[in-house]
Amino acid sequence: MQYRPIDADDIDTVLAIERQVQVSPWTRKIFQDCLKAGYYATVGQQQTQVAAYALMSMAVGEAHILNFAVHPEKQRQGLGRDLLAHLLEVAHAEQTQQIFLEVRASNVAAQALYEQLGFNALAVRQRYYPCPQGREDAIIMARELQL
Ligand SMILES: CC(C)(COP(=O)(O)OP(=O)(O)OC[C@H]1O[C@@H](n2cnc3c(N)ncnc32)[C@H](O)[C@@H]1OP(=O)(O)O)[C@@H](O)C(=O)NCCC(=O)NCCS
Repeated sequence: MQYRPIDADDIDTVLAIERQVQVSPWTRKIFQDCLKAGYYATVGQQQTQVAAYALMSMAVGEAHILNFAVHPEKQRQGLGRDLLAHLLEVAHAEQTQQIFLEVRASNVAAQALYEQLGFNALAVRQRYYPCPQGREDAIIMARELQL
């Protein structure tokens, strides 16, 4: 994949993917606010098609992955691993010491991916996410980045 910044013209495409793959999809406003805030926001392209995207905040030595997804027809081809490795490189280049994320307890696919790239579970936020059955726990995961 080739990475480039998400710009305002990508939001429709990203939203269409978001609505297919996330249990509680972000709204257009959340994406717009993240771009306005200057968070790292990238799409991974294959030829001209957006295959994946991620958003990450970075400040005072810490990075937080805020959103992370692969197009439903492009999953299980290593693109999630490639995108996560890209975020680790970007965070490392920005002198980040630790990188954090939150993941639904039921999202075993994402947890397996994060573990593959060195993340460990740190803590559980109980009943953090809305879900069809009510609420579900968030698992906070993190990994160190050597400087
Ligand atoms: C989670 C997600 C990003 C994985 O992307 P992907 O491109 O399919 O992942 P990869 O092909 O790079 O797989 C990397 C590893 O993740 C794990 N994995 C990915 N999909 C999996 C699945 N459906 N079931 C179990 N493990 C899975 C495997 O360990 C896999 O390694 P392997 O190929 O050696 O078995 C993708 O499923 C997705 O976009 N899901 C919806 C959005 C989401 O959950 N985002 C994360 C929110 S925290």
